[in-house]
Amino acid sequence: MNRPLIAGNWKMYKSIDETVNLINTIKAGIHAATDVDVVVCPPFTVLAAASEALRDSRIDLGAQDMYFETEGAFTGEISPLMLKDVGCRYVILGHSERRTLFKETDELVNKKVLAALKFSFIPIVCIGETLEEREARRAFEVVKQQFERSLANLDPEEMERIVIAYEPVWAIGTGRTATPEQAEQMHTYIRRLLHEKCGEEMAQKVRILYGGSVKPDNIAQLMGKPNVDGALVGGASIKAESFIQIVLNSIILESQEEQKK
Ligand code: 13P
Repeated sequence: MNRPLIAGNWKMYKSIDETVNLINTIKAGIHAATDVDVVVCPPFTVLAAASEALRDSRIDLGAQDMYFETEGAFTGEISPLMLKDVGCRYVILGHSERRTLFKETDELVNKKVLAALKFSFIPIVCIGETLEEREARRAFEVVKQQFERSLANLDPEEMERIVIAYEPVWAIGTGRTATPEQAEQMHTYIRRLLHEKCGEEMAQKVRILYGGSVKPDNIAQLMGKPNVDGALVGGASIKAESFIQIVLNSIILESQEEQKK
């Protein structure tokens, strides 16, 4: 089992003041949870304030997207250098909202992943099928294609540095979570794709997060599955109580196992 990772994708929410308050409350609330990695990914406009608020904390900072060029005439875009400068360690890439609303292709996501690795970020690469694709029994085929194209041209050493987030689009913001069994089934499949790409040892090391209506009351069951290494949390990550509870509940099963030993 990999070290659990809980990442909060704040999407397009929070002012500077709200960011500082939310981070301070989260910091205090998860203080004792040292067995889990925690990342918050606020919007670009509050990254500097978030970075400052996270100073001396073990919570990492991530961005929600990034362009692949380092600088230039790319109006509206944010470069890897800029994210480094503000203190980001992680970057979410290929989120389904970017793929659907902003027409990002696997090829663009791949360029971003390669750039993120070049600048030593930990990319959280999102893949996942729509409801239509699942109902047409195409979920595995779609996930495989996104996996192969978004992660093309990565060598094994680079593969080890990525995090994959399986986010079924039908579960995002809908309150309709994949069952732990559905999540585990796809995570096992993604683990197999990793194995084929870079061998068993490496495949086991890559963390695969589940995303889609993760809440304090379903995280423990999801984390109970062997191939679920953590969660990418949307709505429940912008409220301090629910995010803290998700972080704490993510390690409940493991500590119960520890106590049994
Ligand atoms: P919700 O947790 O709001 O369903 O969002 C999931 C998500 O998109 C995380 O990236």
